[in-house]
Amino acid sequence: MKILVVGGGGREHAIIKKIKENSSVEKIYALPGNGGMAGDAECVNIGAKDIDAIVDFAVEKKIDFAVVAPDDPLVLGAVDALSEAGIPAFGPTAKAAAIEGSKVFAKNLMKKYSIPTASYEVFENAKDALDYIETAKIPTVIKADGLALGKGVVIAQTRDEARSAIISMMEDKVFGNSGSRVVVEEFLTGPEVSVLAFTDGKTLVPMVSSMDHKRAHDNDEGLNTGGMGTVAPNPYYTDDVAERCMKEIFLPTVAAMNAEGRTFKGCLYFGLMITPDGPKVIEYNCRFGDPETQVVLPLLESDLLEIMMAVADERLSEVEVKFGSKHACCVIMASNGYPASYEKGFEISVDADFGAELFVAGTKLEDNKLLTAGGRVLGVTAIGDTLESAVKESYKNVEKVHFGNAFWRKDIGQRALKAYQEK
Ligand code: AMP
Ligand code: GLY
Repeated sequence: MKILVVGGGGREHAIIKKIKENSSVEKIYALPGNGGMAGDAECVNIGAKDIDAIVDFAVEKKIDFAVVAPDDPLVLGAVDALSEAGIPAFGPTAKAAAIEGSKVFAKNLMKKYSIPTASYEVFENAKDALDYIETAKIPTVIKADGLALGKGVVIAQTRDEARSAIISMMEDKVFGNSGSRVVVEEFLTGPEVSVLAFTDGKTLVPMVSSMDHKRAHDNDEGLNTGGMGTVAPNPYYTDDVAERCMKEIFLPTVAAMNAEGRTFKGCLYFGLMITPDGPKVIEYNCRFGDPETQVVLPLLESDLLEIMMAVADERLSEVEVKFGSKHACCVIMASNGYPASYEKGFEISVDADFGAELFVAGTKLEDNKLLTAGGRVLGVTAIGDTLESAVKESYKNVEKVHFGNAFWRKDIGQRALKAYQEK
């Protein structure tokens, strides 16, 4: 079979490596992929948002199955366009991807169907939002409605911070049209858990839970990033919490999307907070998380391609989705300065005795040399019988990867280890 994967980060590399385990796969194309995954897929220089070019390529190469991984092409309708051209694809339609593409849509959906989430107000103009802020409870959370490269959320610790977030989103338009509407919501507290789930609109199967580390620096300091590391499973996701999530959040969300005529098929990502009042939804994503995927998929013991094809055909209930009882840790190696400005173009080398999984993101190949080309450069994932051994092994292998201006957090997994110790 010929497979096409849209996207070019560490998440896509993890998806590609897992799909390759299926023996009927002859060829995988990555659009655009990145230099570091050239050994696992043929990278084709077509941007992930260039839907017409993606569809033309898929038709020309007679692709048997496509996987659309990033949010942008999903929200832009890549899966709709591929399906219309007769290419079966994994991922939600544009109508269903609105669950991530519009925070206003997601919040209104949760309210209408009584799915637990932070209480909120929606504002269409800056004046009303600013008036509301004068009496809102502080801290408060300001969210741009549309996609904003993961930067559209501001936790305002003071009224001044809240005011300036609203002005920069709604008046200065720092996120363009994504900030034409904003959600102002209640600040929740509690540990965060990411749960990715396969769903075909009829059945929902959660994957192993995970914990992201979003801030740039140790002890959760510094700016918010796309994610500096992950561990799976997440110790805060107990059997009890899992049961509540299934009953109060996951299945109601699938039913709500069906009732709205927006059946969701693909990977639905639940960003959860385990508050004193129980689990609540912080955000939905319409796709695999990055770098959650880099710890979740290595723990999957079943055939990913088979599961993805079953999701597209609405027969998820017929396939096995099995995760072992091991632990995984992924440490992201980034360019120092990320998520703000950073130098790139440094050569990457890996020692011969490197013994973990390498998922490559911001890199390019030039004259047969692999160079850094982005903020998050690569992820090092190790698996262990315990979280402690996975973390140790992951950091041991980080030392075997070298490039100029390299930076990584030293405390990935520490919070989870502490939670296990406190149990
Ligand atoms: P998001 O971009 O939606 O993932 O939000 C980024 C981060 O902001 C989340 O991972 C949370 O840590 C935090 N956050 C978002 N919404 C809330 C909320 N209502 N209360 C507290 N923290 C929040
Ligand atoms: N790691 C968070 C996300 O993928 O949105």
